[in-house]
Amino acid sequence: MQSTTEHFHRRKGALFAQSYACSQLAEDFGTPLFVYSRESLESSWQQFADALEGHEHLICYAVKANSNLAVLDVLARLGSGFDIVSGGELKRVLAAGGDPDKIVFSGVGKTRQELTEALEVGIRCFNVESEPELDRLAEIASALNVVAPVSLRINPDVDAQTHPYISTGLKENKFGVNMSDAVDIYKRAAQMPSLNVQGMDCHIGSQLTSIEPYKDALARLMSLIDQLDAEGIKLTHIDVGGGQGICYEDEQPLDIKQWAVCVIDAVGDRKLEILVEPGRFIAGPAGILLTRVEYIKQNEDKHFAIVDAAMNDLIRPALYSAWQAIEAVELTDTPAKEYDVVGPVCESADFLGKNRVLAIEQGDLLAVMSAGAYGFVMSSNYNTRGRAAEVMVSGDDAYVVREREEVESLFAGESLLP
Ligand SMILES: Cc1ncc(COP(=O)(O)O)c(C=O)c1O
Repeated sequence: MQSTTEHFHRRKGALFAQSYACSQLAEDFGTPLFVYSRESLESSWQQFADALEGHEHLICYAVKANSNLAVLDVLARLGSGFDIVSGGELKRVLAAGGDPDKIVFSGVGKTRQELTEALEVGIRCFNVESEPELDRLAEIASALNVVAPVSLRINPDVDAQTHPYISTGLKENKFGVNMSDAVDIYKRAAQMPSLNVQGMDCHIGSQLTSIEPYKDALARLMSLIDQLDAEGIKLTHIDVGGGQGICYEDEQPLDIKQWAVCVIDAVGDRKLEILVEPGRFIAGPAGILLTRVEYIKQNEDKHFAIVDAAMNDLIRPALYSAWQAIEAVELTDTPAKEYDVVGPVCESADFLGKNRVLAIEQGDLLAVMSAGAYGFVMSSNYNTRGRAAEVMVSGDDAYVVREREEVESLFAGESLLP
């Protein structure tokens, strides 16, 4: 079971975030509270940099995984690029000091405004997902008198062997263009004067713990790249997407060295820069969610720990039946029982974990581990709950990187009828 890590570890039974006692963080900043470790973000990012060293590459952190400005800032300072999926994420990256020339723009539904803004800023590449998008991009670029750098997202029709909601590389998924249509679309794109065809990209799914799906996808993409080459269309980069899996329960995280060897081998002696878009692998292990037990409740022989975090703070368990480790922040000799850890939201899907053996009492603190990715970013205000505060621990300091949302701010834009 995934419990502590190098950055979230125990000292004499107490959970620490780097050098901070988590109980102190909860005391100082309240709960529910997302706590991020800067050093964890940096060391996961560095794994990609080390593994791809010696081959021309660009690591484009997938902003959607955790878009807090401080997270983006930490990565921008390492020289990271960014993979964005909206105009909002573009603005965040720029606000955090990200380099426009290292931004790739993914997503199936880019609006005119989003394409225009990204063209004006001069991003590194548009990961185009359909022919109508290609036409729209060409038209806007031409009107702005600029040339848009383009990659086509290919749907390689491989099974990523992950949860269906986070599997994206099958024919039935909405993402990318089919292999069989790709050559014709590339030929059309190459004829358009306002487009500069540069690359090919794919993203087959998330939380992949096996190399095989990457191997299958890359083999298909490389044969397509060779076909294009024979047609005189020379690509300069391959973007292999993200998806590298982490440990939530008992999974073996993807070995980034092995993954990089697989990518570099597949590229062979083709002159292609390697782009990669990891999100979860970098942000996931770098965060935990601290929550306090409000009540212990027993219905017949079922025990509930009712906590102050809920599905609006962390929706992964409700949305994907995702399992995340839940631990008592302080280990005590309270008798352990099996609990469903649930929130106060009025939905039966409002749980953080079921059947967890915990030694806890009312008022104790719990930590939901590996909560740095797809945690805060997917949170909502359901039940008029303000979103949690976010804190980043960096060296010996802890910084509030997002204040707790005040309830009044949740309806500030609403009005009564005259
Ligand atoms: C195009 C694209 N790139 C990268 C990612 C990041 O995936 P992960 O967080 O699994 O690395 C996603 C996630 O949905 C994506 O859609």
